[in-house]
Order: sequence, then C-alpha cells, then structure tokens
Amino acid sequence: MSTLDSILRETRSFDPAEDFRRKATVSGPDAYYALCEQADDHYLSFWGDLARELISWKKPFSRVLDDSNAPFFKWFDDGVLNISYNCLDRHLAVNANKIALIFEADGGGITRVTYSELHRRVCQFANGLKSLGVGKGDRVVIYMPMVIEAIVAMQACTRIGAIHSVVFGGFSAAAVHDRIQDAGAKVVITANEGLRGGKIVPLKAMVDEALAIPGSETVTATVVYQRTNSGASDWHDGRDIWWHKLIDGQPESCEPEWMQADDPLFILYTSGSTGRPKGIQHSSAGYLLGALNSFRWVFDYKPSDVFWCTADVGWITGHSYVCYGPLGMGATQVIFEGVPTYPDAGRFWRMIEQHKVTTFYTAPTAIRTLIKLGADLPKQYDLSSLRLLGTVGEPINPEAWMWYYEMVGGERCPIVDTWWQTETGSAMIAPLPGAIATKPGSCTLPLPGIMADIVDESGAPVEPGKGGFLVIKKPFPSLVRTIWNDPERFKSTYFPEEFNGQYYLAGDSANRDESGYFWIMGRIDDVLNVSGHRLGTMEIESALVANPLVAEAAVVGKPHEIKGEAVVAFVVLKGPRPTGEEARRMTAELKNWVAHEIGKLAQPDDIRFGDNLPKTRSGKIMRRLLRSIARGEEIAQDVSTLENPQILSQLQERAS
Ligand code: WT7
Repeated sequence: MSTLDSILRETRSFDPAEDFRRKATVSGPDAYYALCEQADDHYLSFWGDLARELISWKKPFSRVLDDSNAPFFKWFDDGVLNISYNCLDRHLAVNANKIALIFEADGGGITRVTYSELHRRVCQFANGLKSLGVGKGDRVVIYMPMVIEAIVAMQACTRIGAIHSVVFGGFSAAAVHDRIQDAGAKVVITANEGLRGGKIVPLKAMVDEALAIPGSETVTATVVYQRTNSGASDWHDGRDIWWHKLIDGQPESCEPEWMQADDPLFILYTSGSTGRPKGIQHSSAGYLLGALNSFRWVFDYKPSDVFWCTADVGWITGHSYVCYGPLGMGATQVIFEGVPTYPDAGRFWRMIEQHKVTTFYTAPTAIRTLIKLGADLPKQYDLSSLRLLGTVGEPINPEAWMWYYEMVGGERCPIVDTWWQTETGSAMIAPLPGAIATKPGSCTLPLPGIMADIVDESGAPVEPGKGGFLVIKKPFPSLVRTIWNDPERFKSTYFPEEFNGQYYLAGDSANRDESGYFWIMGRIDDVLNVSGHRLGTMEIESALVANPLVAEAAVVGKPHEIKGEAVVAFVVLKGPRPTGEEARRMTAELKNWVAHEIGKLAQPDDIRFGDNLPKTRSGKIMRRLLRSIARGEEIAQDVSTLENPQILSQLQERAS
C-alpha cells in the first residue's frame, strides 16, 4: 500500500487528554470554532486586535490592511515598532533573570543565557555592526553554526533595522555567493569553523571562496565568531574582523531603530521551480504577529514551559520558532548544535530529560532516523516532563506518528502536525492541541484567521476526498511580501491569473476528509522535499550541467524510507556513456560536484547515465517516465511518442 493510500485510509483519531484540554489556552472545539467565526465575520478587527494584544508598538497603527496594491499587501503599515525590542526589552521589567536560551554544544557543554544577558549581548553586537557602517535597510548575510551567537546576530540586525539573510551552514560557497549577490549584502557574519556531529565545517574558508567569486563586491566586512580553537585561514586585513574584537568596548545598550510595520525584517532564500532560489522577503510586524500568535496557540504556550524546536536558524522554522516566536513571548527554550545522532541516537531523549523539556518540535525525518537507530531508546529516559509534541516539514507517515505518540509522548501528549512554508512565515494548518482531535498523518484544520481551502484549476472548492490545489483565500499578516529583486516572479508564482490573482497558491496538493481535515499530498511543482529540506529539481539540474563533462541532466525524486524523498539524477555526458568502473567514478565525481555547487543536502542518491534522455518528438523530457524508472517501477506509460525508446534500458541500469 502506498503512503498516500495508507494515510487516506487512516481512521484513528485522538482527542486531547482531559487534563491537557482543561489547561489549554484554546480549550475544546467550541473555543476553536468561536475564534474561526470571529475571524470570518470581522476579519480585519480579528487581526487588528491580535496585533494590539501581542505586539508592543512605539506608535500604534491606524489601519489594519492596505490592499490597494494587491498582491503586495501591507499590514499595520503606519505603525512603528522594533522587533528586538519586542523579543528582549519588553521582558526585562519582570523576566530579566528568566532563562531565554539553554544551549547545548556539539559534543556537550551547556550554556544558559538569561533575557537580560541576551539583551546585553545583542546590544553590544548591534553597536559593533553599527561601527562597521551597517544601518537601516542594509543586508547582512549570516552563515553560522547553530550557536547562541547566531541568534544574537539575527536579533542585532533587527535592532538596527538591518535585513538579515541567514544561509544554512550546510550550503556551499557557491550557494553563499549567489545569496550574497542577490541580496547585495554589505556584511557577512560567520564563524571560523562549525561543528556537526564532531566534524569540522570550514565556514570561514567557504565565505572566502564565496567572496572571491565576482559579484560579491558589495561586502565590505566579514565578522568571524571564533567557535573552535583553530584560527581562521586566509585572514583578509581590512575586511575580516573577529567577533570578540568587534564588540570589545562597545556600549551595553543600544537604542532600537524604530521601523515601519512593513519594513523588511529578513530575506530567506528557498527553492522554487526554476534554477534560481527565491529571496522570500518578510515584513516586521505582520511576520512577528504570525510567529507570536501561532506559538501561543499551536504550542499552547505557558510561561513555565521549556520549549525545544530542533530546527537550525538557517531554515524558516528556526526563524519563527527559535529566534522570533519563543523570544517574542518571553519563553525559555533549548537550542542545540549538531545532529540528533551524535554522540548517539539518545541525544534528543537525554536532552529532554536533562532540561525538562515540556514542548518538543522536530521533523518527521529525524523521528524516522531515530526509530531506525533505536526504537526502544526513549524508554531509557525520563520523558515525563513532555506535555506536547510537534512535527513540521513534510507529511508524517502514520507509523512514525504512532511511535512518536506512544514512545515519546507516553500517549499523553497531543501531536501538532504543523503545515506551513517559508512563504507563510508561521504555522497555517495545525491542530490547536487543546481543541482539536488529531489523526496520524493529517495536519488537521487551519488556524483561526487562515482561510485555507482546496480548489480545482478553476478555483472552485473540491469535494471531500478529491485532491486539489492548496490555496489561502485571503491575505494574512505573516505572508511573504515579495520576492527580493523579483516582484513579477512573486506575483506569477503565488497569485497566478488562474485564480484571478486572488488566492495565495501554496504549491502543494492536498485532500480533505469528511471531517474537513487536511491531508497534504505533495508538491505540485518541481520541488523536492529531502529530509524536510526544500530543493528545486531545476536547481540541481543547473548545478549538474555546469559541470564541463555534462551535456544534459534531469532530476526527479523517489520515495525514501528515512528522507521522505531522495534525489535521482539522469545524466548525459558530452563524451561516451560511462559503464562499470567508469560509471562509478563519474557518479562519485558528480555527487561531489553537486555538494560543491549547492551543498551536500542536494547530492543525488542515485545517478543514471544514458546516451540521451527520454524525449517526445517535440523534444520535451518525459519526466513521468523518469520518475517510474527512478522508483524501479514497470514502465506502464505509453512510450509510443518517444523519439528514442532504446535508451530506457540504459537508464534503468544502476552504476552501483
Ligand atoms: C513545504 C514548505 C514549514 C517549515 C519547514 C518547511 C512541506 C511543510 C508540512 C507538513 C506536510 C509539509 C510542504 C510545504 N511541508 N510542513 N506538516 N505536512 N508537508 O518549509 O522549506 O518552505 O517547505 O514543506 O510541501 O510546501 P519549506
């Protein structure tokens, strides 16, 4: 039975435990439906009230939504605020000594940082950035390991109104370069080295390589945090400066730069259906509101919680549920550097026990990996502090869901399966855990105020059980504002003409069951989801054809037990088709090449070589056919329109 069949036939349903429901912020289905009704009836005041309740404004806004230039919506736009003020300063009156961050380094070592200490560090670093000439509207690329300083750097940018663009530490120098160039970054913040599962990640060397490529001349300074004892190779005097030297002697307070609500807060690059990643531009107030409100509702936040989201700040999850949501609400949270499997597969469970984590949020791929490495391991730890579990990034298979529910949550913790995207900024479809019964594999129902629906090509809602396009029918505060440098692409990608430019098109297909629950089926575009990481097939194809030996390449996904999806590449070389030992050598070379061009996360699992790719007579690559071949399925499609059917058997051959 395919995953799709099995989730559609899923009939188990779990009501919130009585004790959980009673204490929940949104308690029982009636409370949820009342909020939905409020949003339906008074959409603007619903959001306006939340924005007044959850955000501290320097100057209040007078208008909730400006839709005069749709789809370039503005929210709360004459309001004035500062995001780091909302995440730090406003907590100091009563919570100065509350722990903000409990950091556990790769290989151990725990550091606790209070709100007042974090405030001090952010102010000092913000002053340091100012001394480098960074100010309002300047772009700063952050390419850091998952350490406290990564969060300090992000918060410091927001304090002075600079726009950060965090690049995940697993991306290559070439990828860093592309993002620096597109954003026109003035400063890059990095570390001499990162650590991941005991292995060194040469971050500074990658930045050097990125900056050596023409097109990055906008960068005037590189700030280097000393993470490991080794120094930094290739020091560029006049450009490179150590973090500790930059903050040395800087004042411990820094007046926030007061920003308009819709001023950009950050850009985060994500993959789409072309070769070039998109710079998703988020706003200040609207984005923050989404992060705060969803954090409070979906994670049923209580001030006594110890929250742990395992995401790296290189992804949107790490922005909204590490840097902005929890800090904005004044929460105590755990952050960790490294990987879930190092020093061993008990790391998560040990950390939950040790730090008395109450709310744990991770990705299905991590859950599947940990099941494989030790399905019984959680039993060895005291996980009784947990009261709520969450997942994000890809559909979770019911088996993994049930294991998470029973083994980790002891059948007492609701699981919030949260559907959202880099573009939506915050969780969109997810159970409010004290209100909504959960079903393994379903992200359940939209948050109040999120007008999600499933429609056909004409924009008409589809019946339950019929798949369609997932759309959001009204703009909402945390929605992406534009694609940096490319407003046209923003419009055509997300507000296509098919739906009269009215609906936000998410790019996923979905299904609804009889109770209205959403089941996400997968992407409708050429985007893959590998271990919860979003990758464009075109992006990997462009990387492959940039290799001088490659003539043509096509990339597809195939289901993978742990990663969700794996990358399969079909390659035509300029020279003769390699076989045997030569094919194995070329496979290794091309895998390294992709790691170098994009990052290890985009490496194909499998590469097949052919004299050509299967094409129709008009020259179009038959991707459906490639998908069947990648999965090792019998070819059921009609191949009579194929120009060159003989190459199919070549492509079915694996090199190793
Ligand atoms: C894509 C967005 C949201 C933060 C992490 C990923 C898939 C995300 C779920 C879920 C099924 C999911 C979708 C979406 N996705 N969450 N709970 N169930 N699919 O952000 O990199 O922007 O990727 O991830 O396909 O479009 P992202």
